[in-house]
Amino acid sequence: MSNTPSLQHFLNTQDWSRQDLDALLGQAAWYKRHKLGEELKGRSIALMFFNPSMRTRTSFEIGAFQLGGHAVVLQPGKDAWPIEFDLGRVMDGEAEEHIAEVARVLGRYVDLIGVRAFPKFVDWSIDREDKVLKSFARYSPVPVINMETITHPCQELAHILALQQHFDTDDLRGRKYVLTWTYHPKALNTAVANSALTIATRMGMDVTLLCPNEEYLLDPRYMDWARQNAAESGGALQVSHDIESAYRGADVVYAKSWGALPYFGDWDAEKAIRDRYKHFMVDEAKMALTNNGVFSHCLPLRRNIKATDAVMDSPQCIAIDEAENRLHVQKAIMARLIRSV
Ligand code: CP
Repeated sequence: MSNTPSLQHFLNTQDWSRQDLDALLGQAAWYKRHKLGEELKGRSIALMFFNPSMRTRTSFEIGAFQLGGHAVVLQPGKDAWPIEFDLGRVMDGEAEEHIAEVARVLGRYVDLIGVRAFPKFVDWSIDREDKVLKSFARYSPVPVINMETITHPCQELAHILALQQHFDTDDLRGRKYVLTWTYHPKALNTAVANSALTIATRMGMDVTLLCPNEEYLLDPRYMDWARQNAAESGGALQVSHDIESAYRGADVVYAKSWGALPYFGDWDAEKAIRDRYKHFMVDEAKMALTNNGVFSHCLPLRRNIKATDAVMDSPQCIAIDEAENRLHVQKAIMARLIRSV
């Protein structure tokens, strides 16, 4: 994928061995206890934000600073030139420069590049190719980190670290894990759902994907990864459309809203369907069915739409711990990638 054959990127956890992921989680736990380091001394990272962020931007900037490095934030099309990603394109539109130059030039200045690029929400067959992230990885001479495109691997590690610390064990095998679709007035990215399904099965948990109907299943790529992961880890994967049976006995409830892929780009039609499932909101009655289970969400979260105030303010909610962990896992990722170049 990269012009530099030996270069290691952090694009998806599925590309990394379980041993390497465990090492990142262990290092992140260490950073949680030891805030400062010199692993990025004299080094820098360019953070390319094609979409808004609160947690990702703050935690990467602060994380680089705490390890002695420096972060530069660029928003192409806002405070940096719009970028073209198609090869061979006659660039007579908005884009002022091509990724082939952008990534190579950045590589002369910085040691790492982070990329946030959400889908365009028009044609999933195009968005599922993750062109922006892959183009950075192809042309960059330095490691590239996925800061959320169609998956969110940094969030995956933050989530798993929060579960490990809540249950006071690195071994999450056999835990009953529910990834529940939840309501949101707009159709959202499937990235966090793809990621949750991928990492929960990778960790050997007994995973249920709870969603309104078959149209809300995730892309076959991620359903297949999850099945393969469950088979290899000794975990399990099932799909349910029944709220009560899915929540009953759960150790973990992870909520996310996403748009139904068969309606991708036809969001008015999708909304008419989605609006029938407002009752998927996570509330106390549903959480009472669990095995005193924990609740989490990647944030941002609309209260009393996706989850009630009572759930968010309950001791079972570990969403703030998970958000904090973004700082620690990203320091581990940056330190690990810097060591590899
Ligand atoms: N969870 C997450 O990525 O948050 P931001 O969108 O605020 O970065």
